[in-house]
Amino acid sequence: MAPVPDPPLIDLRSDTMTKPTPGMLAAMAAAEVGDEQEREDPTTNELQRRMAELLGHEAALFFPTATMANQVALRALSRPGHKVVAEQQTHVLIWEWGGPAIHSGLVMQGLVADAGRPTREQIEGLDGFGQGSVIVLENTHNSSGGRIWPLDEFRAVAEAARARGAAVHLDGARLFNAAVGAGLEPSAWGTLADTVTVCFSKGLGCPFGAILAGPAETIEQAWEGKFLLGGALRQSGIAGAAMLYALDHHVDRLADDHARATRLAEGIGLDPATVETNFVPIPDEPGLIGRLLERSVGVSDLRPGWLRAVTHLGIGDEEIGEAIERTQEVLSVHA
Ligand SMILES: Cc1ncc(COP(=O)(O)O)c(C=O)c1O
Repeated sequence: MAPVPDPPLIDLRSDTMTKPTPGMLAAMAAAEVGDEQEREDPTTNELQRRMAELLGHEAALFFPTATMANQVALRALSRPGHKVVAEQQTHVLIWEWGGPAIHSGLVMQGLVADAGRPTREQIEGLDGFGQGSVIVLENTHNSSGGRIWPLDEFRAVAEAARARGAAVHLDGARLFNAAVGAGLEPSAWGTLADTVTVCFSKGLGCPFGAILAGPAETIEQAWEGKFLLGGALRQSGIAGAAMLYALDHHVDRLADDHARATRLAEGIGLDPATVETNFVPIPDEPGLIGRLLERSVGVSDLRPGWLRAVTHLGIGDEEIGEAIERTQEVLSVHA
């Protein structure tokens, strides 16, 4: 068994470190369920109905993971031999095991872009990008530090892609963080994309589960893709109940995670303006992750030269106070 850290670890590596709350577990235990493969799971069906509405689309489909939702979306939107284009540190390009090439036969092209946001001009200047290709826009953008896409920029890029005949996929794994951070509805970005992924196992605190929303016809195609990858479950309502619970109880509270991330940044001497949601980007230095871990503060890599501390459901004001104190000590020793 791994040794128990002393003092207890303040785990800021990721918002995936959340555990289901007692309320969520009770909702899962009480879930009304049926066979999802027969489309007879009432809880999953209700979740899909609510999410389609929230994202401004005709239909939505439950997935076990956001990775699978992204990959199935790409498969439905593209044709083999065409391109998937995204900012170069985007999750679908670098963290999904080459899935776009393997599952959909796509050429993967990364763009260098500030804050994870390619520009209209970059899209207009692309070679070999048109019908059968797809652009992926990530909101919030993970590796740039949980940055939010301004709506106008998002619209301009989506329009530029469409003008080329390409499709637009929004990887909104943390779209609710963007919505709460910007004070907008998730559908504000959602309706501008052909398909939208939302993940429930991050800030929303579910053990697993994601949603893909889009036009009814595309979601029917996605159903086949999900089946193909072994993602069609049986009593998925157990997860669906956790996800419905999260919609009702864990969305507004994301504002607390964002406030705590800002407090953490300020507390350790970083510019709070670099915090837009629940990620605190920390300049890396050799051995810093290990030294923080020795003091029981868990952080992880963000992108080359940067670490991240991520606030979430399992981190309260007390933990943030402790994390600030311990991090200050580590930083001052090497200042
Ligand atoms: C932006 C983004 N998209 C997709 C995923 C994949 O989510 P999952 O772990 O549910 O497959 C992640 C996970 O970290 C992510 O950060």
